[in-house]
Amino acid sequence: MTQQSKTKPIVSLLDAKSLALNQIKAYIKRSYDIKTALQTQSWEATCKGKHVLSVFFEHSTRTRVSFELAIHQLGAKPILFDVALSSSKKGETLEDMMQNLEALGVDAFVIRHYENHIPHQVASYVNKPIINAGDGSHEHPTQALLDVFSIEERLGDDWKNRRILICGYILHSRVAHSNMWLLKTLGAEVFVSGPKALIPNNLDDYEATYIETIDTILGDVDAINVLRIQTERQEQEAQDAFQSQQDTQTRYPYLNKAYYKEHFGITKNRLNACKDHVLILHPGPVNRGVEIDLDVMKSPRSIILKQVENGPIMRMACLEHCLLET
Ligand code: NCD
Repeated sequence: MTQQSKTKPIVSLLDAKSLALNQIKAYIKRSYDIKTALQTQSWEATCKGKHVLSVFFEHSTRTRVSFELAIHQLGAKPILFDVALSSSKKGETLEDMMQNLEALGVDAFVIRHYENHIPHQVASYVNKPIINAGDGSHEHPTQALLDVFSIEERLGDDWKNRRILICGYILHSRVAHSNMWLLKTLGAEVFVSGPKALIPNNLDDYEATYIETIDTILGDVDAINVLRIQTERQEQEAQDAFQSQQDTQTRYPYLNKAYYKEHFGITKNRLNACKDHVLILHPGPVNRGVEIDLDVMKSPRSIILKQVENGPIMRMACLEHCLLET
């Protein structure tokens, strides 16, 4: 996404929805090149002297470390900003915080926030690239980019003949939303399956098709992206029900682990019903034995750890583009 500031354009990565096909392809192409250069030890850092600040208002394992590694590999200097130790406790607003960090000389910001659209807001008052590392239940563009890169690496770039199933808790999944936008732009056919209560009502916007009974589609798809049940995005009552596994039969039947697994869990039997070349993805963290079984995670069809491996590479491609084109 490109915005116009007074002097020169600022290139940010705020969402997958507004990424043009040629930009998605450019990120994928650059990821292949970076990966090869790293593997052949011919990589030369491209962003020396830049300072990239990561600010995470929400927990993260993979994304946070993956961005940090990407910043190091680019030759830039990472600044890890601890929100808990910041002056936000003294009443400093996010706008003041970000503008002060910009004045200190930060060249780009990686932001994860529990509220939707915060990276977009920050981009409206900070004249530096902003990379969205996940905003609330809205978008997670770098995760979706590394997901499509991981699929393409295995299955090639014939996206118009690819059928992808996104499975589970779609409604509040920023990973699902970003994946659906990218897959639509790439021209893939997208199916979603999961409990009806956890499916958004605007699937038409993504040109995605809802499948009520997951078993009816398993034999037709090339990849399945399995999502975590994100109870933290539900009301407290539902969170308690999921934790205690009580009352879920009446108020939240879909949060009953056994029910969920029976209807939507990716089990060995379900994997056996898929095509031989099917790929299993999961952005992590995983509720083992609920949305996905351990033997599926460990099966040769699973590229879950490949996704993690590709995380720093795709994030290098994204950060490099934003830093060098700004
Ligand atoms: C996802 C996230 O935080 O949005 N994880 C990730 O970035 N790897 C998905 C999730 O939390 O379930």
